[in-house]
Amino acid sequence: MSQTSRADARATKGKISALRPVLKFISPYRWRVAGAALALMFTAGVTLSIGQGIRLLIDGGFASDSAAALADSVEFFMILIVLLAIGTFTRYYLVSWIGERVTADMRKAVFNHIISLHPGFFESTSSGEIQSRITTDTTLIQTVVGSSVSVALRNVLMFLGGIIWLFITNVKFTLILLGTVPLVVIPILIFGRKVRQLSRSTQDKIADVGSYVNESLSNIKTVHAFNHQAEDRQRFGTHVEDAFDISVVRIKQRAWLTVAVIILVFGGISVLLWIGGQDVQSGAITGGELAAFLFYAIMVATAMASISEVMGDLQRAAGATERLIELLNVTNLITSPVSLKTLPNSAQADINIEEISFSYPTRPDHQAIDQLTLHIGRGQTLALVGASGAGKSTLIDLLLRFYDVQQGRIAFDGVDIRDIDPLELREHIGLVPQMPTLFSGTVLDNIRYGTPSASEAGVIEAAKAAYAHEFIERLPNGYKSQVGEAGVRLSGGQRQRLAIARAILKNPQLLLLDEATSALDADSEHMVQKALDSLTKERTTLVIAHRLATVVNADRIAVLDQGKLVATGTHSELIQSNSLYKRWAELQFGK
Ligand SMILES: Nc1ncnc2c1ncn2[C@@H]1O[C@H](COP(=O)(O)OP(=O)(O)O)[C@@H](O)[C@H]1O
Ligand SMILES: [Mg+2]
Repeated sequence: MSQTSRADARATKGKISALRPVLKFISPYRWRVAGAALALMFTAGVTLSIGQGIRLLIDGGFASDSAAALADSVEFFMILIVLLAIGTFTRYYLVSWIGERVTADMRKAVFNHIISLHPGFFESTSSGEIQSRITTDTTLIQTVVGSSVSVALRNVLMFLGGIIWLFITNVKFTLILLGTVPLVVIPILIFGRKVRQLSRSTQDKIADVGSYVNESLSNIKTVHAFNHQAEDRQRFGTHVEDAFDISVVRIKQRAWLTVAVIILVFGGISVLLWIGGQDVQSGAITGGELAAFLFYAIMVATAMASISEVMGDLQRAAGATERLIELLNVTNLITSPVSLKTLPNSAQADINIEEISFSYPTRPDHQAIDQLTLHIGRGQTLALVGASGAGKSTLIDLLLRFYDVQQGRIAFDGVDIRDIDPLELREHIGLVPQMPTLFSGTVLDNIRYGTPSASEAGVIEAAKAAYAHEFIERLPNGYKSQVGEAGVRLSGGQRQRLAIARAILKNPQLLLLDEATSALDADSEHMVQKALDSLTKERTTLVIAHRLATVVNADRIAVLDQGKLVATGTHSELIQSNSLYKRWAELQFGK
């Protein structure tokens, strides 16, 4: 998923009721929520009393000649302020804490769930999409839980309390006010919404700028090799100018918004002062009453504006929640059965593949494996050959139970692999994949990937057996060298030897080698082949190879064509019996 569409996702709104699942994440912290609610009501109460403080200060303090009265009213005012500070501290701390905590819990819940989902799921949902859900979407929810909800509640209280105090202070003015507030607030809201939409499209444009930089810099060699710099400067310039143009529109709107706010708000206040001032002059109300009234009027108007702003946050968070819950609700297709069977105590890795058929979920009408039957006896080595696309890697996926077959069954020591816990099954399997992956971390960490408890000496021994020790020693920090995205770059052959060391260290009963020597040069292939020979001796092995030189030593060779098993036998048998195999052998060895 590109960064642009990620920014779009950020803007997607949902029904506020979709926020309900978030409650489940909040409920463990209900005492903190209660504390926050108390602090919130308390501060709202104190804020509302400030209007009375102002009235007392003006009427009791300024207007009277008594110094003691002034001191009293200032004291009352100060007490209110201190209470407000304490209450605000408590509310802010608790509410923000809950927001951060809930986000952390949600991130963990989503990751913990998806990390064990069946691999097929990730073919229909890109990892970029999931990444943005775990980072961006949870951040939206954090804003809501850690601030917007409390802002909304506070403002609702202020709004209601403010209206009540307005009526208490002066009924006539309140009625006039309620008629005019919408005239002031509504135009500001409409303007404000426009500005916010524009700032969102600015973010999108900036995301475009970011992804352009990312793409061209991470492929810098291709850029230079094709002399693409001038073109890139121009295209990048267009992205930057687009972002600028949108920003200018936004700045203009924003400037006009400020003008509108100033004129409308202070216009409204002037009108109130004019009407109210006449009443003060005529003695119908006191100056303090007018000041308090103004205070409440401004408070009510601000509360209204804040509530409407927060509604947008709530809707966006609702959209985010929907997307996160969707991830949490994906069911794992590869699970342990209810009536779990366990493998015999000492696994033998006798593999029986019985008439299996399989098609990938994304291509249901294409049989990747078609009615295949194969037996790999304990300790045997079976070589799988076939043109690319024949279904060799698919068979390995099925043995690892990354997918379940649609017909037939695969038995491990006589037990259907669907009846075993996948974790237990994979405990017994070592895999050297076609394109080995290194994770960020040291060489040591990478070899220890499947066996975290292995000693350093054990790792070195495995590396030696995989003919990797020598090149590792020559790396800048030897076994402590960082590899992966931010580390030293390894060649394809070096990666393969690390992957082989990883499998050797795991010491599995069943070894799956998917073209494990394809990226090696002739010299290291010869060495790794020796390593593999000793590795495969005591264990059941399925080895896929394009080069017949690596398979002639196998106990048996199976020829796969378009998902079907077309022949099995030893090298010399197949040369006699299978024309497909014979042609390959001739191509590689000569007649
Ligand atoms: N994840 C997948 N989704 C859909 N089709 C796939 C997937 N992986 C492989 N295939 C298809 O299944 C067939 C067998 O692929 P594969 O087992 O990778 O072949 P091989 O390893 O023998 O080269 C091919 O036609 C390939 O296009
Ligand atoms: Mg393959």
